[in-house]
Amino acid sequence: MGHNHNHKHQDIATEDKVIKEELQGDVFFKEQMLTNPNRNGKKFYIESYGCQMNFSDSEIVAAILSEVGFEPTRDIDQTDLILINTCSIREKAEETVRKRLQYFNSLKRHRPHLLVGVLGCMAERLKGAFLEQEKIVDMVLGPDAYRDLPRLVATAEDGDKGMNVFLSREETYADINPVRLGGNGISAFVTIMRGCDNMCSFCVVPFTRGRERSRDAFSILAECSELFANGYKEVTLLGQNVDSYKWDNPETNQKVDFADLLLMVADIHPDLRVRFTTSHPKDMTDKVLYAMSSRENICKYIHLPPQSGSSRILKKMNRTYDRAWYMERVEAVYRIIPDCVLSADIITGFCTETEEDHQETLEVMRLSNYYMSYMFYYSERPGTLAARKYADDVDMETKKRRLEEVIQLQNQLSLEHNRQEVGKIHKILVEKDSKRSDLELCGRNSQNKMVVFPRQEAKVGDYVWVKITDFSQGTLRGELVEKPV
Ligand code: 5AD
Ligand code: SF4
Repeated sequence: MGHNHNHKHQDIATEDKVIKEELQGDVFFKEQMLTNPNRNGKKFYIESYGCQMNFSDSEIVAAILSEVGFEPTRDIDQTDLILINTCSIREKAEETVRKRLQYFNSLKRHRPHLLVGVLGCMAERLKGAFLEQEKIVDMVLGPDAYRDLPRLVATAEDGDKGMNVFLSREETYADINPVRLGGNGISAFVTIMRGCDNMCSFCVVPFTRGRERSRDAFSILAECSELFANGYKEVTLLGQNVDSYKWDNPETNQKVDFADLLLMVADIHPDLRVRFTTSHPKDMTDKVLYAMSSRENICKYIHLPPQSGSSRILKKMNRTYDRAWYMERVEAVYRIIPDCVLSADIITGFCTETEEDHQETLEVMRLSNYYMSYMFYYSERPGTLAARKYADDVDMETKKRRLEEVIQLQNQLSLEHNRQEVGKIHKILVEKDSKRSDLELCGRNSQNKMVVFPRQEAKVGDYVWVKITDFSQGTLRGELVEKPV
């Protein structure tokens, strides 16, 4: 039965309050369905690989399944439906998924009614292989097709395989209120846009996730407000390229850009921290930096991937900026937000990369002083611009050696970063128990640095003040202190 859900905000709401009520109605509806024995308590199990966007999408999928009476479970032995949300970004990610699928398929031998579905970025490329040649899955759905999941599940329950890998220009799942899976109840991801129009030559994302589109700002605000009302203290706004967020407010005819959106979300409440990822160096404006510096609760941390430090390689990567442009953006960050921390994505051994190019990457890392980096060697992806135009001509040994040098440098930078923190006092959002000891908690500061400290009276979800006493490459340790005046 379709829940008649009108999400044309321009028709029904002039204030986000109204939308919020509407969304709460939606939650109520879901709760009813969850406890509704319609489907005899059928359960689904979902596993996610790849980027945060995929994990966030799994929560949208969970919401869609909940509406038709499926309950989430973390027990693979007790589930009726297994879903795997896949990633195509590097070859290794795809290999991992293939192994998991073989395992899921082996479970089917003893559980003939068990259904297995493939979601996400591998869907488009491998639909034929999974469904037809290998026959190891019952359904395949691309990132824009999740609303079709109930239909494909029903089809599969009747014994027919199905797929939907249609990529949309509009779908943002704006009206769907994600079911939070496995979170800490404190920190949530909120998708603000989908797809990517950038066409970096190494990247498969424009092919797997389609065109870029921004989500209705009111629905983003409603989701964040509701999270805060439910005890959440931190939202991370997600998009492949958040700086190109743009949305026309149909009521005022005003354009909302990413800086505007950041301020709107930050102004929900001073105790709601706002983070975001990922920023593209070509689009990150001073307006965003000034917005960040104007609000204490917008975290002073930017993930600003250079990919390479060589202008020649950047051109081949089709990043549309050069080294000088990138360094100018880094300088703007440190000028406008002196306490800001940066992190990076770096690829070593891209097509034609020389030793000099590699040295330039190391130099950009030093100059930018990243606190941490996600570092990869280049992995050619079928269908990308680079795969079609350039030979993958740096041998594996060199790729790996350069990657090792990049990692070594990053380790040094991280350690130095943390050494500077000793004696300083930070405001920490308490996130969870420390892994090592029951007597300790951990959480991050505004700059996204993880800090471990004695539990004492503190609780998960509190803001506490911690004076740093010790450090390692990945973590800071400290003691609770009074809030500084
Ligand atoms: N090979 C290696 N790394 C890649 N990335 C994207 N595509 C590739 C590829 N083909 C990296 C980029 C990107 C991050 C999410 O993954 O650094 O920013
Ligand atoms: Fe995310 Fe890209 Fe992997 Fe898709 S291919 S899951 S967008 S990292």
